[in-house]
Amino acid sequence: MRIVVLVSGTGSNLQSVIDAVATGELPHVEIAAVGADKHGTYGVERSAAAGIETFVVNFKDYADRGQWNHELTEKCLSYRPDYVVSSGFMRIVGEEFIDAFDGTYINTHPALLPSFPGAHGVRDALAYGVKVTGCTVHIADAGVDTGPILRQEAVAVRDEDTEDTLHERIKLVERRLLIDTLADLATGK
Ligand code: GRF
Repeated sequence: MRIVVLVSGTGSNLQSVIDAVATGELPHVEIAAVGADKHGTYGVERSAAAGIETFVVNFKDYADRGQWNHELTEKCLSYRPDYVVSSGFMRIVGEEFIDAFDGTYINTHPALLPSFPGAHGVRDALAYGVKVTGCTVHIADAGVDTGPILRQEAVAVRDEDTEDTLHERIKLVERRLLIDTLADLATGK
């Protein structure tokens, strides 16, 4: 199963996938490429260091979102992936991308969707005062963190939590959830 992984940041969740592929935990998964929406991400840097092909479709280089979306779609298609994984990719993709990867665009989100969608899922959950939040792996459609849910797991909020401490605990679960999801998809489950 060939995957393209999209990142915008540090790519620590991506690293866990790279490690799982390297150690044989995901024997049927090949990371065809890692792409970012901006230059200078650690996610791309660590992928290149691992010998993975990388690309950047820099959002700021395009006059409008449609052109950027077209270029991102073409670039991803060029790797002939079975799935594209958004792992901390902080841009909403457009219809052209969703149509091209209909049902094969996977997103991870650090909250129990449909609660707390958007860029600040951890902060928003904390601000609301929920006692349980978690993470979601889902098939992404054209909405913001919407689409059929594949896996979810709860994480308890502690009284002393800050956004960072809670997000780190969520990420520990999120990484395993993503790897388990990829294993299922690769074996046709
Ligand atoms: C993850 O929690 C993801 O769900 C969110 O951003 C985080 C990515 O972190 N959108 P990293 O770049 O993998 O460290």
